[in-house]
Amino acid sequence: MNVAIIGSGGREHALAYKISESPILSNLFIIPGNPGTSKCGTNIILSLDDFKSIDNFCKDKEIDLVVVGPEAPLVAGLSDYLRGIGVAVFGPSSSAARIESEKSFAKKIMVENGISTAQYREFTSDEYGEAKKYLQEKTYPCVLKADGLAAGKGVLICEDMKTALKGLDELFLQNKYGRAGNKIIVEDFLTGEEASIFAITDGENFICLPSSQDHKRIGENDTGLNTGGMGAYSPAPVVSDKILEEIKTKIIKPVLTAMRESGNKFVGCLYAGLMITNEGTKVIEFNCRFGDPETQAVLPLLGGDFLKLLYSAANGNLDKEAVTYNGGCSICVVASSKGYPEEYINGYEIKGLNNINCPSVIVYHAGTKQDKGKILTNGGRVFGVTAFSLNKDYKFVKNIVYQNLSKISFEGMYYRRDIAHMVLKK
Ligand code: AMP
Ligand code: GLY
Repeated sequence: MNVAIIGSGGREHALAYKISESPILSNLFIIPGNPGTSKCGTNIILSLDDFKSIDNFCKDKEIDLVVVGPEAPLVAGLSDYLRGIGVAVFGPSSSAARIESEKSFAKKIMVENGISTAQYREFTSDEYGEAKKYLQEKTYPCVLKADGLAAGKGVLICEDMKTALKGLDELFLQNKYGRAGNKIIVEDFLTGEEASIFAITDGENFICLPSSQDHKRIGENDTGLNTGGMGAYSPAPVVSDKILEEIKTKIIKPVLTAMRESGNKFVGCLYAGLMITNEGTKVIEFNCRFGDPETQAVLPLLGGDFLKLLYSAANGNLDKEAVTYNGGCSICVVASSKGYPEEYINGYEIKGLNNINCPSVIVYHAGTKQDKGKILTNGGRVFGVTAFSLNKDYKFVKNIVYQNLSKISFEGMYYRRDIAHMVLKK
């Protein structure tokens, strides 16, 4: 099979790495990819907005499957476009991708189908007065969310009314998130432990990959600003077999049914961001794609043929036996540029990448670029190092991941030293 992956982050490197192991693969292309993905296949520089060029490329290379990594091209309709010209795509249609790009749409589906989630109210920008009144009467903490896509930044946890009112002004009066903030959700604050579940689906049937847990905050002990994710481990023991069963029957299955029956059939990876609370599991959010960095932790634990799984889902005939969980565990630690998630400087040389030669360690490139034989930093999250083992010895894996990470360096390199602290405490 000839396969093209869309995207250029750590998630796409993890997808490329796994797909490149498939016995049914002939040629792998990554559009546009990064220096890491160039070791798994051929990087092709095309603009992700330029559907016509991607279409021409697919025809030229006789692409059998396109796997779309990030949310933006899904929301923009790349899957619909490619399906329209007869290319199989792993990734939802634009209308199904609204489960991520319109939080009010996701909330409505949940409420209508009895899927447990935080209580909420929504307001549009011309309801500023009502929103303000609501926030003045509410109990705290609460959570303010921009309805649209805000690159993972449109969520404000408000400990008190003052923070909430300031956040409201930023969203509605100062347009901090542009159009994404023309509508907001005000949600009750949930307490518990978070977990991520990836459901691979053909729109009707699904399988869940091993659970994982992300570390969203920049600082150790989960402090400081929210980021795209500073590390992850898999599986997340907080998702016991019983809880996983509940997630499948009370969350994933009903949401896929509701999507299908409302004309928004979801094909691809449905990511459920969950809070395991004392009153059961509640949905924090749905995403329309694989999570990053969770994918970098989850995929190394899969045996079988991952490409076969994605292809079967894209073709409406999910092969539930295509992959198996190998029974092990993994930890991924993200190295970021000094200053991230705020301002940072690109272009520092990354040294020591060739020092990593442990078979149970993978370095996934994210914000990197190649320049005259050197690898330079080129983003906030620069790379992720994942270590894995065939048994569930998280402590052992943690030692390996940090030992290997210490062999790589660049100016201002930062990483959290406490990834997987929740599981190591248990
Ligand atoms: P989201 O972009 O929706 O994943 O939100 C980012 C992060 O904010 C989540 O991973 C949670 O840590 C936190 N969060 C979002 N909504 C809630 C909520 N209702 N209660 C508690 N924490 C939340
Ligand atoms: N790791 C969080 C996300 O991918 O949205």
